[in-house]
Parts: sequence; structure tokens; C-alpha cells
Amino acid sequence: MNPTTTQTPSPKVRYTEEILASLAEEPPRLPSKYFYDATGSRLFDAICALPEYYLTRTETGILERDAKAMAAAIGPHCELLEYGSGSSTKTTLLLDALVKPARYIPIDVSRAHLHDAAQRIHARYPDLSVEPLCADFAGEIVLPSEAAGTRVAYFPGSTLGNLTDAGARGLLERMTRTLGPGGLLLIGVDLVKPESVLVPAYDDAAGVTAAFNRNLLVHLQSLVDLQVNPTAFEHRAIWNADEHRMEMWLEASSDQVLELAGQRFAIPRGKRILTEFSHKYTPERLLDLAAGFDPVARWSDPQGWFLVQLLRVRG
Ligand code: SAH
Ligand code: AVI
Repeated sequence: MNPTTTQTPSPKVRYTEEILASLAEEPPRLPSKYFYDATGSRLFDAICALPEYYLTRTETGILERDAKAMAAAIGPHCELLEYGSGSSTKTTLLLDALVKPARYIPIDVSRAHLHDAAQRIHARYPDLSVEPLCADFAGEIVLPSEAAGTRVAYFPGSTLGNLTDAGARGLLERMTRTLGPGGLLLIGVDLVKPESVLVPAYDDAAGVTAAFNRNLLVHLQSLVDLQVNPTAFEHRAIWNADEHRMEMWLEASSDQVLELAGQRFAIPRGKRILTEFSHKYTPERLLDLAAGFDPVARWSDPQGWFLVQLLRVRG
């Protein structure tokens, strides 16, 4: 009798399977977490500084005004886990206000960018233990060791909005288990606003968001050997009013064929690949998605464009 061997597929095989399944959907899709190679993370930082991209400066303004109140509500000696930490820029406003935070665990898929950001945080706060974790928050997050203090998840930037509602519910539910009863979540989400503000934020005049969108194809060329011509795709940003979300698409400007692992995907001229959702919420909708949490406090900007909500795990 032959012994059965079970082998875990390599990351490249898993990525390839996920991308093949996404391209086979109608309309074809590509998962937005693959935006973030080193170039994508740099382009995202450039987006944050654009005049049209109101999200970052609005959320930063809320933190500049209210971080002390947030820190008071959180309490001393917390262990801060940041989901999708990127450059950890806003985090410094929170860390400056928190009383003796015990440990900071930034979590991100963009490995080199994560480690650079963690080093900058360590240099700025030498007494804080900083333990970066390169992981996909779509799966279980395995933390380094015992909690160093009250667990607080920080999830800024409206990154929740990049998930489907089912994906958002699943992530928030997993967070309740990671945090444990009494654990806290400080989450920043973008709110519904006029289309005339939303569309330019995702289709800026300088073309940085277009470059970010196309870089997804460039990243997949090296990650999984996707055969594609990135320059043959145009950036499209569309407000989907029924689903309360901005959508980014890549539209073929001539007939194209994508090839991956021997499978071919014809994309005729004018056909689009869906690359990102960016949901816009109401405060009530967020509470509905975060069903395992109780609201503690919330902060917003004078225009009511962005919301920072503190939640506590029920139980
Ligand atoms: N929090 C920062 C960065 C937001 S950009 C801010 O508010 O400005 C979104 C970040 O989430 C990127 O750094 C990206 O690499 C990371 N990210 C996206 N999908 C992820 C996933 N599935 N798991 C872990 N990190 C993810
Ligand atoms: C990270 N995320 C919340 C950004 C957003 O606004 O959805 C990513 C982005 N896409 C285009 N511009 C910025």
C-alpha cells in the first residue's frame, strides 16, 4: 500500500489558482490585494498626497484633533495590531497619544514596505516593541505570542471598503476571535458622499491612480508569470450607486489575450476587468457589518466625509 502524502501547495501555486478563478468570473476580476508590491505601495503613498484623494487628509485631520480622546477611551498599556498598516503614517498620531503602549504589530502583505515602516516606527519609539507580521488578513492571523496588553486592532484608511460585504463580515468576525472578549477595534471608514467628489478621488488628473491600477498587471507578470500587455489597458473609475461603492476597472483598448498556467482569457476591445471595490458606508451600515462588536465612541470631520469608530468585542 502506498502511503498518502499531503503537500501544501507553494504560494505561487495558490496565487495562480486564485487568479485563474478570478479571471474566469464574469465579469473577469483580479484580487485587489495584488496591487501591493513595492511599486504599488509607493504609488498608494503618492495617491494619499493627491489633492483629489480627500480620504487620507480627512482621516488624518480627525486623528490630529481627536487622538487624545481615542487614547483615553482605549486606555493604557495596549497591544496595537494594525491591519493593512502600509507606511504606518497615521499610526504615529495614535502612538503619540496612547499611554505607554506595550507592543505594536503592523500586519500587511507588502513585505518590504512593511519592514521599512516597522523600522521607522522602532526608530521613533525605541521603547515600544515592534513586531511586523507579513500576512493576508483574508485568512487567520497567527499572532507572535501572548498578548502584551489589552488587544486593540487599528484598521484605518477605509481598507475594509476594499472587501465585499461578505468578506468584511468574515474579517470582522475573525477579528473578534483574535481580540478576545473586551478587545477593541478602532476602524476608519469612508462615508457616502456626492459622486462629483468620489470619481476624481479615484481618477486623478496626474494619472497616479491609473498607474496604480495598471501596476496590478505588472506585479502579476512577475508574481505568477501572467502573460499580459499592461499598456493595452485603460484605467476606469465608476461610482456604482446601487452598491454604494467606487469600482476600478481595466478596460482593453484593443483585443487582448491574457495567458496564465496554460489557460487563455480573451479580453476583446472595450471589455473590462474589475480590479477594486471601494465601498462607502453610513455609520449604521458599519455597525451592521461589525455584528460581534458594540459601539463605544465615534469621531468624524466637520463635513461628515469620514468616520473613525471605536468598537468593543461583545461578550
Ligand atoms: N493603513 C494605511 C494603508 C492603506 S492601503 C493607510 O490608511 O494609509 C491598504 C494596505 O493594506 C496596503 O498596505 C496593502 O498592502 C494592505 N493589504 C491589502 N490587502 C491586504 C490583505 N488581504 N492582507 C494584509 N494586508 C493587505
Ligand atoms: C486602500 N484603499 C482603502 C484605497 C481605496 O481608497 O479604496 C485604495 C485605492 N484605490 C484607489 N485609490 C486608492
